[in-house]
Amino acid sequence: MNEHDSERIAGVLEADGLVPANGVAEADVVVLNTCCIRENADNKLYGHLGHLRSLKQARPGMQIAVAGCLAQKDRDLIVERGPGVDVVLGTHNVGRVASLLRVAAESGPVVEIWEEAALEEGELFPSALPVRRELGHAAWVTIQIGCDNSCAFCIVPAVRGAERSKPFGEVVGEVSQLAAGGVTEVCLLGQNVNSYGRDLTTALRSVGRDPASEEWLAGPAWSGPGGAGRRARPLFADLLAAVGAVAGIRRVRYTSPHPKDLRPETIEAMAATAAVCEHLHLPLQSGSDRVLASMHRGYTAARYLERMAAARAAVADLAVTTDIIVGFPGETEDDFDQTLAVVAEAAYDSAYTFIYSPRPGTEAAAREASFVASETVADRFARLKVVVDRSALARHRARVGRLEEIVVEGPSKRDPGVLSGRTRQNKVVHLPPPPGGLRAGTYATVTVTAAAPHHLSGSLVSVDASPTHKTRIPVASG
Ligand code: 5AD
Ligand code: SF4
Repeated sequence: MNEHDSERIAGVLEADGLVPANGVAEADVVVLNTCCIRENADNKLYGHLGHLRSLKQARPGMQIAVAGCLAQKDRDLIVERGPGVDVVLGTHNVGRVASLLRVAAESGPVVEIWEEAALEEGELFPSALPVRRELGHAAWVTIQIGCDNSCAFCIVPAVRGAERSKPFGEVVGEVSQLAAGGVTEVCLLGQNVNSYGRDLTTALRSVGRDPASEEWLAGPAWSGPGGAGRRARPLFADLLAAVGAVAGIRRVRYTSPHPKDLRPETIEAMAATAAVCEHLHLPLQSGSDRVLASMHRGYTAARYLERMAAARAAVADLAVTTDIIVGFPGETEDDFDQTLAVVAEAAYDSAYTFIYSPRPGTEAAAREASFVASETVADRFARLKVVVDRSALARHRARVGRLEEIVVEGPSKRDPGVLSGRTRQNKVVHLPPPPGGLRAGTYATVTVTAAAPHHLSGSLVSVDASPTHKTRIPVASG
């Protein structure tokens, strides 16, 4: 979500006539878009600001802006602790970045943070803002902001507020517009996509309106056995189907479902909608039931594994990835062993692993007496990586010899002589470019020739020859 905000900030500035600089030292405007979900974003921010201040002393015309949820949270402190900052803007003020920079150039530093409660519906989801997308063919689409859960480690509910969903018709309209502009892949963004739409229907019912008769809200499969106004099917499952049906959209991704709410309907919609990619990101956080309970996650390891198995059974060739936190307060060696066991059983395709970091104001941050020693955490973190990499490599090795559809992303970041693409399962494939290269956004078929824990290698078979459908592409002979 933070990356998507960065794309909007860049888009708004570009629409105002700015062009990307070659680096910070040459830039007239530097925007730091902060995220306070993990790590010490604040320490990093003040470090960066110190560096920028010395650049600014040499080039006084340079302007510095700080955006994102840390800016939202620490507002005036940033101006105080970061002399040289021209603009501090909140997560809802992205569209105003260019004009705020102009105001600051004329009359000194400005802080502008709009509180969610004061916003009109349309201002919550600024989909009309220009976006400077890193990849031309792929776009993020925010379907929901905020979160109504209360995981003990997480600062999102505090900084992003209550769950708010973008109306169904608006999401589909946005995707159709993106498709008309050449986008073929979308990733639907929300903190808990399975509760997508719950706030809309609740709000309508509270004022005596029937959600089923609201065209702007209703999905195509609205009328279910539950009767008028009572959905038999969660709106997210319909949204997957509707977005997948938009002409020109070949790949639909989403992130993330909460394991406690992963409904069979969502899995069915994934299986039934050809464009929805065979990838499920299902955050585990811990494999210990004791730790899961103290995190308030609302599921047990067994329940999690059951849901994952149901998804794997329904969606052929499904890749599953996850998020895991190591060293949550009170995590014992036995708890951690259970995480290792679940991770081994889940056989993930990849996992984002995080060291627990206390977020000020969250429930777990107050449990100082049960913080885990940093050496212990470092040791567990390294052990977890070994298990994750082992299963990722095994999953990747099983793909060697297969044909895969990729979409080309461009030259590899590490080696510009190598082309990078992405499979439907969200795996990076490196391949030697054909003579004349291949444009980013091109769909192609490759044979997988080798596997590593974090990527595949392949060789080009044909360009744009593979249809978008669920049936598995046959294994290459030999
Ligand atoms: N410490 C470590 N990791 C965290 N995450 C969220 N909050 C914290 C925290 N305080 C991780 C979770 C989540 C992912 C987006 O970030 O694993 O799923
Ligand atoms: Fe944070 Fe939990 Fe909400 Fe995810 S579901 S954003 S981890 S509170």
